[in-house]
Amino acid sequence: MSITGEEPLSAEIIVVTSGKGGVGKTTTSASLATGLAMAGKKVAVIDFDVGLRNLDLIMGCERRVVYDFVNVVHGEATIKQALIKDKRHDNLFVLAASQTRDKDALTQEGVEKVLDGLSKEGFDYIVCDSPAGIEKGAHLAMYFADHAVVVVNPEVSSVRDSDRILGLLSSKTRRAERGEGPITQHLLLTRYNPARVALGEMLSVKDVEEILGILVVGVIPESENVLAASNAGVPVILDENSNAGQAYRDTVARILGEDRPLRFTEVAKKGFLQRVFGG
Ligand SMILES: Nc1ncnc2c1ncn2[C@@H]1O[C@H](COP(=O)(O)OP(=O)(O)O)[C@@H](O)[C@H]1O
Ligand SMILES: [Mg+2]
Repeated sequence: MSITGEEPLSAEIIVVTSGKGGVGKTTTSASLATGLAMAGKKVAVIDFDVGLRNLDLIMGCERRVVYDFVNVVHGEATIKQALIKDKRHDNLFVLAASQTRDKDALTQEGVEKVLDGLSKEGFDYIVCDSPAGIEKGAHLAMYFADHAVVVVNPEVSSVRDSDRILGLLSSKTRRAERGEGPITQHLLLTRYNPARVALGEMLSVKDVEEILGILVVGVIPESENVLAASNAGVPVILDENSNAGQAYRDTVARILGEDRPLRFTEVAKKGFLQRVFGG
């Protein structure tokens, strides 16, 4: 408690990370941030992928980027100037990645300054969209996190690389260094195709949970709607008719503590008409 008797403001920091690239981190960051905002939280989502701006495209705000994360770190813009308000939700903001080719543009102190600044602005959640791998950018994205969403695809190489990330999360974060207790780890299985699992071409939910030793917080099916949504600049969670969008809604609800059964993990049974007429 502070002297005024109020709790100091503090945002919950969630990193969306993975071992391998191209597994669905940015897709997940956009939908998670949007889902939290839909639940009434004040949310900022930050693109940590220096040199490879992508989140602003998926959020549909690329034409409004004037200042970016690195500008704020270097003091060339204030956080308020750099935050882009989402066009659909007043309580959702995007901080775009820099296009600079200087991979060292982000520093630990710089990132800390931006996260503290966001906390002071009264954000409830800060979602950090991590670049791939275990290099500096990915370390910086996870270092200050309270929670992690580890995105994994149902294939051996992706699962193996996630194992390494889970290890880093429990040792190389500020919480770990300060002995503040472990960060919450959520495993999110994306691009899941039950038909291919049934054919033995992909790992099942159970396989992945057994190999990594943690339960999934959600399973997002492989869906054409994801690319269509990205191309339209609309996070897929807003596509209520798509299975992927519904699965993201379930996932956000679970992260907020709700109990919901998994869906879309079995091969869809065809209806009577489909069986008779095909399709
Ligand atoms: N559930 C899904 N179904 C189909 N395609 C997906 C799904 N999730 C992600 N993708 C596609 O996979 C590619 C990589 O996704 P992205 O979110 O950019 O991954 P990352 O940020 O991990 O590199 C994109 O083309 C995206 O449209
Ligand atoms: Mg990405």
